[in-house]
Amino acid sequence: MNTYNILYSIFVFYLFLSYNLSLCSEHEEPFLYKRSPDYLINNRFFEIEPEKSAFSLDVQTIDYPDNYTLKQLYLLARHGSRKPFIPQVQALNQLDKAFANAPVAKEWGKSPFTIEENYRLGTRGKLESYYDGLQSLKRYKKFWKNVKYDADVVKFQTADRFWISQSAMAYAEGLFGGAGPIGACKNEPVYIWSFPWNQDYFLEMYTNCLRWNETVLNNFTYYIEQTYSYGNKTLAPLAEKLTKKYNINPPLDPLLVPSIYTYCDFMALHYNRADTWCALLSDDEHILARHYWNMRDYFQYSYGHPLNEKMGCAYLTQFVNSVDDYLNGTSRMVADLKFAHGFTESLVLTTLGVFKDKYPTTADLTLEKMKSFKYTQQRVTYWSSTIYFEIYTSPSNDALLRLVVNFEPYVIPGCDGEYCKWTKFKSIFSDKINCDFEKMCAYP
Ligand SMILES: *[C@@H]1O[C@H](CO)[C@@H](O)[C@H](O)[C@H]1NC(C)=O
Ligand SMILES: *[C@@H]1O[C@H](CO)[C@@H](O)[C@H](O)[C@H]1NC(C)=O
Ligand SMILES: *[C@@H]1O[C@H](CO)[C@@H](O)[C@H](O)[C@H]1NC(C)=O
Ligand SMILES: *[C@@H]1O[C@H](CO)[C@@H](O)[C@H](O)[C@H]1NC(C)=O
Ligand SMILES: *[C@@H]1O[C@H](CO)[C@@H](O)[C@H](O)[C@H]1NC(C)=O
Repeated sequence: MNTYNILYSIFVFYLFLSYNLSLCSEHEEPFLYKRSPDYLINNRFFEIEPEKSAFSLDVQTIDYPDNYTLKQLYLLARHGSRKPFIPQVQALNQLDKAFANAPVAKEWGKSPFTIEENYRLGTRGKLESYYDGLQSLKRYKKFWKNVKYDADVVKFQTADRFWISQSAMAYAEGLFGGAGPIGACKNEPVYIWSFPWNQDYFLEMYTNCLRWNETVLNNFTYYIEQTYSYGNKTLAPLAEKLTKKYNINPPLDPLLVPSIYTYCDFMALHYNRADTWCALLSDDEHILARHYWNMRDYFQYSYGHPLNEKMGCAYLTQFVNSVDDYLNGTSRMVADLKFAHGFTESLVLTTLGVFKDKYPTTADLTLEKMKSFKYTQQRVTYWSSTIYFEIYTSPSNDALLRLVVNFEPYVIPGCDGEYCKWTKFKSIFSDKINCDFEKMCAYP
């Protein structure tokens, strides 16, 4: 055998090998998307506030004209980031099962989330609200300088849920820690009150409104036309693609696809991991999976149903009376700090007619349109987000209101500008103030 023949045989053998390797593609490593948790968080894939703003103490004091005086502050905040609630825990367990025979997931272990940890704040979640308190102290420095804690002067109110009350407590530590008499850290014990959840028309309006249950929550137009259509046209093909790509057997249930997004969200949040469930979906596929939840938010808590534009009316009425009480000298309260759910924030913003996207969040949108949304849970009502209503007086003694969401002023439609005359604000919303919540919610 000469050298040429030897080389030739090696070449043929090599060809044979590589041919065989390409036939055995099922032994190749399955494709995973490589991204850091920060990439996903900073690009607003989740309802998680990026670290840069959540934990910054380098915040500017707020800007307002020198001749205005900030008199009162009203806060509506969402609780800090949390563990999955029971139906979410169950969906993640179902995903574990669905992927039990898929090679891609064999090293991932089981879901670390338990039903005992239902709604528990994580460490980050507790810190987020604490930093909200610290940031408020800095943002409204001149205002807080003149305030000494007194239960009639600064009110803390929460929806009656432990994770929300804990968030309020963390905020209070940020705001008053160091200014009180207790312990090495000089804490101030504050009074945090709640309505019982089944009487809370202000912060849990949707748990107390039968009309909302019957016409919004159980709305079959929404369920059949929108959810089914999205399930069949978008989720089913995506499930099929994932089934093939990752060898899932039996085939993946399309209705589990949105929970891959959820799994990814909680793994990034609590375990700083984007190399497992997050890695299954491309950026665009994440948006498609998430759209299912954004549709739900839109129809149930936002502009998707006309009743939602009135659901914040008890909140608004209480707010307006509270400002009037202060302006006419009946009340000494300068700050009303309320803590609640993302849904509460969404319904209050919807009642004010603000933060409305150009398109309805329906099943048939193009990916480009889905990407164009600005006013989603991921960008506005995320965990530990803040809505402040600031009440000013001007030199002529007019009262003015400014709406500031996540520290960005927002012009309320119908107002002349950022600073809305109080009388003007009340006339814009006259039909939503003094509403009879119980009557509105009676059904049929
Ligand atoms: C208040 O200050 C603004 C500028 O900050 C000025 O335009 C306005 O004329 C002042 N109003 C009065 C009544 O002094
Ligand atoms: C609305 O439905 C939920 C169950 O989905 C129930 O817990 C709640 O009590 C209902 N609300 C009213 C006001 O009937
Ligand atoms: C269902 O919701 C749609 C809007 O999303 C609304 O137009 C329709 O009236 C609702 N159906 C009922 C029974 O309220
Ligand atoms: C597809 O539509 C049918 C009704 O037409 C529905 O029963 C089914 O659940 C839908 N599939 C998905 C994945 O949503
Ligand atoms: C102050 O305003 C509140 C709310 O509008 C009203 O109920 C109350 O009667 C007013 N009090 C006085 C002294 O004007």
